[in-house]
Amino acid sequence: MPAIKFTGPGGARMQHDGSGRIFVQNLSKHFGPVAAVQNLSFEVRPGSVTGFLGPNGAGKTTTLRMLLGLVTPSAGVATINGRPYQQLGNPAQVVGAVLENEGFHPKRTARNHLKVYAAAIGAPDNRVEEVLGLVGLSSAADRRAGGFSLGMRQRLALATALLGNPQVLVLDEPANGLDPEGIVWLRNFLRAYAREGRTVLVSSHLLSEVEQTIDQVVIISHGVTRYYGPLDQLRSSQQSRVLVQAADANALVKALQEAGFTQVEPTPDGRVAVVGATRQQIGDLVAKSGIAVYGIEEERADLEKLFFQLTSPQYPGAQYSGAPRQPYGQPPQQGGWGGPPPPGYPPQQQYQQAPPQQGHGGWGGQG
Ligand SMILES: Nc1ncnc2c1ncn2[C@@H]1O[C@H](COP(=O)(O)OP(=O)(O)OP(=O)(O)O)[C@@H](O)[C@H]1O
Ligand SMILES: [Mg+2]
Repeated sequence: MPAIKFTGPGGARMQHDGSGRIFVQNLSKHFGPVAAVQNLSFEVRPGSVTGFLGPNGAGKTTTLRMLLGLVTPSAGVATINGRPYQQLGNPAQVVGAVLENEGFHPKRTARNHLKVYAAAIGAPDNRVEEVLGLVGLSSAADRRAGGFSLGMRQRLALATALLGNPQVLVLDEPANGLDPEGIVWLRNFLRAYAREGRTVLVSSHLLSEVEQTIDQVVIISHGVTRYYGPLDQLRSSQQSRVLVQAADANALVKALQEAGFTQVEPTPDGRVAVVGATRQQIGDLVAKSGIAVYGIEEERADLEKLFFQLTSPQYPGAQYSGAPRQPYGQPPQQGGWGGPPPPGYPPQQQYQQAPPQQGHGGWGGQG
């Protein structure tokens, strides 16, 4: 995406570091007795799409609203480019955001809506046509927003967020209301945006909805971090199993143990599950031992199951929620199959290594 020249106030010099980084550190928010967010820490770097995941009421929107200066934190900090949102100078050029329930004037056309916002942030008029094209709304530009479907409203909200050609995108549940084609479109759009060296933070209550879009993931539940790290690491923490249906399960288990497979267990449907084996290894073994088998099936690691486990109230992590120095991404170990993931990396160190620099300026320098 080409850099756009702006004439708006504060467009040229800014006090942020231009890094495109989002930092959330020890962030908390209480609404009266409700601890919506508790001691949350994570970092989002440019060039990646980060999923911000948690079930309904987990505190995602509250966190994003704090990041965008719409809610005052009870404790902790949330910064973009090393600065709280309010100190960004011309924030539309640094961060574009779509939050829940974006309101549009129902009688205004999509194009006019965007023109009003473009004028407010000092973006040139031709940017309106560009963003309409980017979100696939060009042909609906003269229709009134009041008649838009939920998916079209999502696209218009995204177009509004893109007006400032921002370095950072923050989207709260952007896939809501999109049809399958729209979800694929959004995925490609966000990945391309990140590939340009920009930063994308996208929330969802469904891991499956964003699984193919995101590189790293912050999973929260009840306002507390459950996992923070690369999605691949979460995936690889789930060991796959080979499920074997044998004529004589006992003979198979004995042969497996003799061959050195230690994690062997029965499944409820009468099969034998072997952790850490390949189908080929099992096939060779049963051929050699002369054991009759009726099926050898590899069971893929189930990320969604792990997500439910990490966010369920029964999860032991909840016991130490709110502890002052909780190592995020390090839920207590549960042994065996389907246990929690290995730790993600702690962002605190990176924060200390890279304090915000003054007067670097240059919004959109990554574009
Ligand atoms: N303005 C508010 N006043 C009181 N409580 C609030 C307020 N905003 C949020 N909460 C509470 O904070 C908690 C977190 O809410 P939040 O909207 O951040 O969750 P969420 O993860 O975005 O959920 P969802 O997936 O449903 O959008 C909830 O218990 C919610 O009721
Ligand atoms: Mg929400």
